[in-house]
Amino acid sequence: MDIAAVRSRLRPAWYLALSLPIAAAAAVSMFLLVATAATTAAAGLGLLLLPFALSALRRFTDTQRRRAAALLGEPVEPRYRPLPAGAGARLRHVFRDPTTARDVGWLVVAVLTGLPLGAIGLFALAGVPVAVVQTALWWLASPEQPVTLLGIPVRGWGTALAAGAAQLAICLAVLRWVLPPLARGHALLTRAVLTPAPTGDLQERVTQLTATRAGALSAHAAELQRIERDLHDGAQARLVALAIRLGVAERSLADDPETAARLLREARTGAEDAMAELRDVARTIYPPILADRGLAGAVAALAARCPVPTRIDAGELGELPAAVETAAYFVIAEGLTNIAKYSDSEHAEVLLLHLDDRLLVSVTDDGRGGVDETRGTGVVGIRRRVAALDGTTAVSSPPGGPTTIAVELPCGS
Ligand SMILES: Nc1ncnc2c1ncn2[C@@H]1O[C@H](COP(=O)(O)OP(=O)(O)O)[C@@H](O)[C@H]1O
Ligand SMILES: [Mg+2]
Repeated sequence: MDIAAVRSRLRPAWYLALSLPIAAAAAVSMFLLVATAATTAAAGLGLLLLPFALSALRRFTDTQRRRAAALLGEPVEPRYRPLPAGAGARLRHVFRDPTTARDVGWLVVAVLTGLPLGAIGLFALAGVPVAVVQTALWWLASPEQPVTLLGIPVRGWGTALAAGAAQLAICLAVLRWVLPPLARGHALLTRAVLTPAPTGDLQERVTQLTATRAGALSAHAAELQRIERDLHDGAQARLVALAIRLGVAERSLADDPETAARLLREARTGAEDAMAELRDVARTIYPPILADRGLAGAVAALAARCPVPTRIDAGELGELPAAVETAAYFVIAEGLTNIAKYSDSEHAEVLLLHLDDRLLVSVTDDGRGGVDETRGTGVVGIRRRVAALDGTTAVSSPPGGPTTIAVELPCGS
C-alpha cells in the first residue's frame, strides 16, 4: 500500500476525530447564539450582534459542507442567498432565509453525533500507537501502578503481548470496518441537514442558476483565453516566421536564387506546420469527428484509441444539442485518458443513455480507484463543464476501485 492509499484509508478516522472538537465548537456556538438571542429580548443589544453571529454560523457550516463533500466525493451545495447590505436588511433576511434554520438545526445534530462518533474515531486512532508503545514499554511503569491494556493491568510479557496484540487488532478492525460507514453516515447526515430539498423555493433555485451562469461565463472566458493563447503561441508565431522568410527570399531572388529557393522550401514546411497547428486548435473547440460521425461514432473512436479494452453501451441517442454532445465527448475523453494514465485496469466501460430530456454518461474502470480531484485539473474541469450546462457530476472511486464518473446533462426541449 502506498502513502496515498494509507491516507485515504485513514480519512474516515480523521474525519470522525475532527468531529469531536467541531462538536465542542458547535456547543459553544449554540450557547453564544442563545445568549445573543436572550440579550436581544432583554435589551435589544443582541439585535445588533445577531446578524454577525448568524453570518459567522454560515461560515462555520460552510466548512462542514466542504468536509462532508470531501469525504463523500460529491459537492454539498450551500445555496445561500447573498446577504444584503445594511444591518436591518441583513437581520430580516437572515431570519427569513430557510437556510438559517437548517444551520441552527445542524448545531444540535453536530453536538449530538459529533461527541460520541468523534470519541470512537479518536480512540481508534490513538489506540494503535498506544498499544504498541505500552506493549513495548510496560516494564517502565511502577509495579503499584501498572499500565493497562484493554483494562487488564500488565505485570509480565505474556499479558503485555497478548493484551497489546488484542488491542491493536481491535483498533485496526474498527479503523478498517467500523469507521468508514460511521464517517459516511455522519457526512450524509450533515448533507441531509445542510442542503435544501431539491424542491426548495424558487429564490434558491434562482441563486443557484445565477451561480452556475457565472461559472459558465468564467469557464467560457477561460476557454477563449486558452484558444487565444494557442493561436498566439502556435499558428501566429509560425506565420510570422513564414512572413520573414518570404521577405528575405523575395530580396535575394535576383542575386542569390539558391538561397531564395532554400528559404521558399522552409517557408512551405512552415506553412504546413501552421496549418497543422490550426487544425489542432480547431479540434479542441468542436471536435470535427462529432460533426462527421455523431457522438456514438466519436466515442467509439475514443475507445479504440484507449489502450485499456473499452466496451461501449450506447442506446439510440437521437438528436442532441451540440453543447451537450461536446460536453459528453470531453467528459468521456478525459475519463478514458485518466483510465489509461492512472487506473491500472483491465477493462473499462462507457455508457450513454438518452432519456427523455436528459443524457446520462458514465465512464467506469475496474482499476485501483482513489481519484483525488485536488491533484489535477481534469475531473474538476469535468465538473465545471457539466455544471455550466446545469448538469450534475458524481465521482465514485474508493481505494481499490472501481472508479465511476457519472454525469447527467439536461438536454432541454
Ligand atoms: N481512473 C482513475 N483511477 C485511479 N486514479 C485516478 C483515475 N483518474 C484520476 N485518478 C487520480 O486522480 C487524480 C486527479 O485526476 P485529474 O483531475 O484528471 O488530474 P490530471 O490533470 O492529473 O489528469 C490523478 O492525479 C490520479 O492520481
Ligand atoms: Mg486527467
